[in-house]
Amino acid sequence: MTSLFPRNFKKSFPTAIRGEGCWITSSDNEKYLDASGQAAVVSIGHGIRSVADAMATQASQIAFAHTTQFHSASAEKLAARLLALAPPNFTGGRVYFTSGGSEATETAIKLARQFHLESGSPQKFRVVSRRQSYHGSTLGAMSVSGNIARRAPYQPLLPEWGHIAPCFCYHCPFDKIFPSCKVACADDLESFLSTNDASTVGAFIFEPVVGATLGAAAPPDGYVQRIAEICRERGILLIADEIMTGMGRTGKPFAVQHWGLEPDLILVGKGVASGYAPLGAVLISSKVTQAFARGSGTFQHGFTYQAHPVSTAAGNAVLDVLEKQNLFARAASAAKTLREFLAPLATHPNVAEIRGLGLLLGIEFVKNKSTREPFPKEENIAEKIRQAALQKNVLTYPTQGCVDGLRGDHILLAPPFTITPEESQLIAEALHFALQQVFSPIA
Ligand SMILES: Cc1ncc(COP(=O)(O)O)c(C=O)c1O
Repeated sequence: MTSLFPRNFKKSFPTAIRGEGCWITSSDNEKYLDASGQAAVVSIGHGIRSVADAMATQASQIAFAHTTQFHSASAEKLAARLLALAPPNFTGGRVYFTSGGSEATETAIKLARQFHLESGSPQKFRVVSRRQSYHGSTLGAMSVSGNIARRAPYQPLLPEWGHIAPCFCYHCPFDKIFPSCKVACADDLESFLSTNDASTVGAFIFEPVVGATLGAAAPPDGYVQRIAEICRERGILLIADEIMTGMGRTGKPFAVQHWGLEPDLILVGKGVASGYAPLGAVLISSKVTQAFARGSGTFQHGFTYQAHPVSTAAGNAVLDVLEKQNLFARAASAAKTLREFLAPLATHPNVAEIRGLGLLLGIEFVKNKSTREPFPKEENIAEKIRQAALQKNVLTYPTQGCVDGLRGDHILLAPPFTITPEESQLIAEALHFALQQVFSPIA
């Protein structure tokens, strides 16, 4: 019996009682290997004592003080550290802390709008985004998201500001092949703006590597640079949603740093406190900060729990571990090892592709590898793979819809950066078992 309103009334959920490294133990004493870092959240591993101690110390000193009256030393310190990790245009910028990713997206949408008011462009309010994307569950964040299934029930509540094509080479929306495509998907932004009143567009938001919706689809060279160029020419703010990719998951502090990109706003969540506390943030570049500082000086926005001292203490303690153990570099090397163990799976007739960047990996499953035809949605292949891997006590993150919002099956792998070669091998073995379980009967 549960009194919790669950994610799914038709499923039962074990009770997690302990976490250690890459492992979670449930109340019935099962040990699960956390191959997905839950939902690409856990970066430093579970059960790190120094983080718990830092949170307890902060809570016993001052757990809460409202940001209309006080700042806290822990939030101040974490903000400075995040800006120091960010691209050069964040020098002289600021950080707005939230309680999670969706709040960070909401904050960015409003920051972009008010930036244009402060800058004398009141006509600019629309935030354009991409189909096949996810930026959060709240209504503003849902409006910019292009995840068809997650949007569907709430469609009447969502303003439509415009979506362009995704950047997804395996199922290219233009049926082209890189590099001869000349990143036509980036030029789709230009085409959209030419026909949809660019003067009202205030911002463009994108996931540098599309996480849950497309199963870790990374852009080819030239894509983000072209997007940035279009935004710059049109006076449109560029928002990088790094809620899943940020804080080292792709092997650099922020994924945009793989391409030397300088967005105007960077969103973080998930890994910023590695699951130890609810925390998200908007990193605000110097240009946007200055518009507010020189303008009205007030941002018409706020959450009671923003910049929470205990959450930001957790963020600092997590960053201590990331830095002391050199875990940004470790994410890149652990990813290489994990990929080596996974590589043999790619020859399976139903494994379409193993893709991703750093420790954000996706495995897509197709019915026919030569035509790239997906399985019918009803076959629920991604969930079946999850269940089969679970028989080996390995946790994965399944999603459907990567092809067209409905069809297309993939799982995400996003383990803690501390994952060992032995644990990577266990993941590969569990997935090998899952492929046999799920596809042998079909074959
Ligand atoms: C890219 C991206 N943006 C935003 C969100 C929303 O974050 P949260 O669930 O913390 O509100 C997520 C969560 O999965 C995400 O992956």
